[in-house]
Amino acid sequence: MKKDETFKWDDKKFVEFYTDSANVIILERLRLIKILLEIVEFHFPSLSGLNILDLGCGDGIISRHIYDTSPDNSFFLVDASEEMLKKAKTNLSGANATYSHYTFQDYIASRTEYSKYNIVFSANAIHHLDFVEKTELFSKIYNELQFGGLFLNIDPVHPNSAYSEEIQFEIWRSWMNETLAKSGHKDAVGKYDTIPSVYKNNLENKPSSLWDQLEMLGKCGFRDVDCFYKYGIFSLFGGAK
Ligand SMILES: C[S@@+](CC[C@H](N)C(=O)[O-])C[C@H]1O[C@@H](n2cnc3c(N)ncnc32)[C@H](O)[C@@H]1O
Repeated sequence: MKKDETFKWDDKKFVEFYTDSANVIILERLRLIKILLEIVEFHFPSLSGLNILDLGCGDGIISRHIYDTSPDNSFFLVDASEEMLKKAKTNLSGANATYSHYTFQDYIASRTEYSKYNIVFSANAIHHLDFVEKTELFSKIYNELQFGGLFLNIDPVHPNSAYSEEIQFEIWRSWMNETLAKSGHKDAVGKYDTIPSVYKNNLENKPSSLWDQLEMLGKCGFRDVDCFYKYGIFSLFGGAK
């Protein structure tokens, strides 16, 4: 299993920090999840009997949202962190779910199960891959989707210029502070102001430009490729097979 030396998702404290603060430090996370669900329900109105792959599932909270909407689906959850998978198992207890302690690199190298899935999605995880690995991953996902299947990715993307990055990081900081103030934590305003620069300086984060990724999805064969939402660096994009 190949993990970057900066991989911190095995650290219990870091995992607790992420799961406790995700709705504040990831800009419009709940809205992004809501839009992902809306697209899934539009594409699969009955939303049942489907094979659903959650890549970089973390604590499985997005699969849980789908399960709560419609429990009659099979969930496949992949993550490189055992700590996260433990949480996912708890969050999805009762669901028909299979868990794989895999890195994306393991997943890419694994035997391709052609046309296995109806839906593949990922949230805030694929930016841990460089562009070559992203391309390999998109191609693998395409092969493992059935015709008519759907791939959706919620992920931070790389700004087109340093100036644009400055603007988008400021948008990120002000959203976090607005969210803290609105949720009764006025005293905590400013607490997360360093997060954009910590994110930028962490070698584990390798965001690619939105445009490059949309273009690559098209080259891999996806149709109806589009960006469905973007606020600052946080985006939701994907396509159908
Ligand atoms: C920010 S969390 C997102 C978790 C979840 N998808 C969510 O939206 O809450 C990133 C997740 O990606 C996983 N991850 C990071 N690098 C990975 C890799 N190379 N292969 C597989 N999973 C990875 C981490 O273990 C972590 O659970």
